[in-house]
Amino acid sequence: MPLVLTPIQPGFVAEASGLDLAAPLDRADIQAIEAAMDRHAVLVFRGQALAPEAQLQFAENFGKLDLGFKKASKAPNRLAREELLDISNVDETGRVADRNHRKIVGNLANQLWHSDSSFQDPPARYSMLHAVVVPEQGGETEFADMRAAYDALPQAQKQRLAGLHAQHYALHSRFLLGDTDYSEEQRQAIPPVVWPLVRRHPGSGRELLFIGAHASHVAELSVAEGRLLLMDLLEHATQPRFVYRHVWQPADLVMWDNRSTLHRGRAFDLSARRELRRTTTVDAA
Ligand code: OGA
Ligand code: MN
Repeated sequence: MPLVLTPIQPGFVAEASGLDLAAPLDRADIQAIEAAMDRHAVLVFRGQALAPEAQLQFAENFGKLDLGFKKASKAPNRLAREELLDISNVDETGRVADRNHRKIVGNLANQLWHSDSSFQDPPARYSMLHAVVVPEQGGETEFADMRAAYDALPQAQKQRLAGLHAQHYALHSRFLLGDTDYSEEQRQAIPPVVWPLVRRHPGSGRELLFIGAHASHVAELSVAEGRLLLMDLLEHATQPRFVYRHVWQPADLVMWDNRSTLHRGRAFDLSARRELRRTTTVDAA
């Protein structure tokens, strides 16, 4: 059965069914998913319980896999392979981690609006987040449509943004949360990168805002002016009319395009188990 798409919001987010993601996909299926991503930016697959190997294989259909922040943290991974990112509050022993555990702060940084790995070149293209255990309350994930947000800007603002660039740095969001305990080597492991504030999505041709928690400076402005502009744009771009909130069920897999969306996790009781696994592809040819 081919891919079936049911839009959840007009022009943003579709429920995707008809495919078994644990089985090998053929070229036509992969192209159908890519075309759907260009159009909807977020795809929600329900009822796809995936073993670690199956999730890795599904992701590899879409390119080389990303390690993102791992490159700097060198934290040990509980899971099958380095490329399967442990998005959980579970410690090395398999128990819910203490709220002061090192990994919890990284987990909390995911609650700031961001685009995965925007702090590196190449950044992330697709992320695929798979739910294994979800808390009864909270812990949803929200997505914001940066194409619609750009389209809705006043013309004068669009003109001001053309030609501006933001610097993105891996540890900026950590510093923001008071997590500054990094060695000089770790601080330099992922040097900052600079991206235009407005980019064009290659698959859809649409212009979009490229911002989020890793953006620390606007290259052409003072730090203060740049940060205020970034905050202002983020406030605009994450208004409810641009946002979809995903309420997780175990065995959901949500796939999003990091070029055209921002996302954030929502708060939950840190003593409740929340266990998701992410695979991410890099935005390279
Ligand atoms: C991620 C992320 C948010 C969440 O896995 O990239 O930002 O809700 N997750 O866990
Ligand atoms: Mn993320």
